[in-house]
Amino acid sequence: MSNVIVLGAQWGDEGKGKVVDLLAEQFSVVARYQGGHNAGHTVYIGPKKFVLKLIPSGILRPGVMAVIGNGVVVDLEALAEEMATLEAAGIDVAKQLRISNRAHAIFPFHRLVEKMSEARENRIPIGTTARGIGPCYEDKIGRRGIRIADLYDPESFRDLYDTLVEDKKTLAATFNLSDTVDYAAMRSRIETLAEKFKPLVCDTAALLAEAMANRQNILFEGAQGTMLDIDHGTYPFVTSSSASAGGAATGTGVPPTRIHGVIGVSKAYITRVGSGPFPTEDHGEAGEMLRREGKEFGAVTGRPRRCGWFDAPLLRYTAMVNGFDTLMITKLDVLDSLDEIPVCVGYKLRGQEIHEMPATYRALEAIEPVYQKMPGWKTATRGIPAFEALPEKARAYLNFLEERSGVEIGGVSTGPERNETIIRPGSKMADLIR
Ligand code: GDP
Ligand code: IMO
Ligand code: MG
Repeated sequence: MSNVIVLGAQWGDEGKGKVVDLLAEQFSVVARYQGGHNAGHTVYIGPKKFVLKLIPSGILRPGVMAVIGNGVVVDLEALAEEMATLEAAGIDVAKQLRISNRAHAIFPFHRLVEKMSEARENRIPIGTTARGIGPCYEDKIGRRGIRIADLYDPESFRDLYDTLVEDKKTLAATFNLSDTVDYAAMRSRIETLAEKFKPLVCDTAALLAEAMANRQNILFEGAQGTMLDIDHGTYPFVTSSSASAGGAATGTGVPPTRIHGVIGVSKAYITRVGSGPFPTEDHGEAGEMLRREGKEFGAVTGRPRRCGWFDAPLLRYTAMVNGFDTLMITKLDVLDSLDEIPVCVGYKLRGQEIHEMPATYRALEAIEPVYQKMPGWKTATRGIPAFEALPEKARAYLNFLEERSGVEIGGVSTGPERNETIIRPGSKMADLIR
């Protein structure tokens, strides 16, 4: 029995949803540990397309328990919408979903605060998803947040809510912003939604402990990616939670000693949405081609994703921070038509080779990537069922990524569907999901 983390090795949108949906078949529980509805995890099951934002992708497998852990920030309105979409598709959400009583709630005023902070003079705009994620985590860390459990103590909830509203109003006034929001009506709406979710709310750490005691295994589903992690990412161009492996323990209450492996998900190239340094970004024709062929538009905001080349130093860094046991390389098929494929094999800063990831965004912006070009295979790879059956040059490309990243490639994805995935027999990946 293994408890395994699946998380993004780059800047998000690596295909975590597809991978989690595929692997969930081997697990009893799938738990989200951070982020909120800033995530957009797309899963195709035949002709059906699902975009999961807050609810773990494991919900698409009947019988799998989907847990929203304490580290997640929950917008009840967004949750209700997502739940309705899944129920319309025939999924028994009430039976399969559980929500941590310790998760923090996002309120509409969090979005307002985010707008203020993104637009403020002399502040660097991050290009957020505008979902109120950052301000909600600010209230959590500031020890004035409202948790799901608080919603079920009506008097205390009203006090907490009204105090928080006053705080935000004062903040808005400081910036000469008027707002016409009916906060009392909003509070009633939240109370109604809270009643709806009551049967799903519990101490999910205790639920996960019981699952483990019953020898059930847990898959942890990361949102965003390591380079968007609040500590280890390209700060301040990051999200406000711990997307890397450590977050799985704090964000669910499952002890680190009970987690057995980490699977990193990485594209065969790389993308980023929003602002911030991106050493291997391609602003030319080839970058356009990656966006077109890879359908690289944000699942949440529809923004075009910035595209670039596989960055081996970045992967070595995210492997160090997460302790990847194995990698799933996705979207290999997107590279099928290229004559040659640049891979970043090293970084230079002001002409000097560097071996550490710089800590400041200014230094990150100044990185000069060193490329090695690999020959393209110019053959369709979609749906090829085994590593050995891939074109020779595609195998050489993957072997090169493996060697330069220092992490085993245990799986390769060649299309959005479940069956367009190779798991290499005898790999650590095969072992972890057995
Ligand atoms: P996530 O946020 O990490 O779950 O990734 P997204 O769902 O935001 O973005 C990944 C996109 O690529 C989705 O539309 C997937 O359906 C799609 N996708 C995943 N794996 C593959 C693959 O191997 N090939 C292709 N062509 N598309 C893929
Ligand atoms: P998934 O789980 C890609 C980015 C935003 C912005 C920064 C901060 O689908 O991989 P936030 O709204 O979180 O405060 O925005 O993080 N971002 C993502 N980029 N994939 C995601 O999620 C993202 N979630 C947030 O674009 O740059
Ligand atoms: Mg996504």
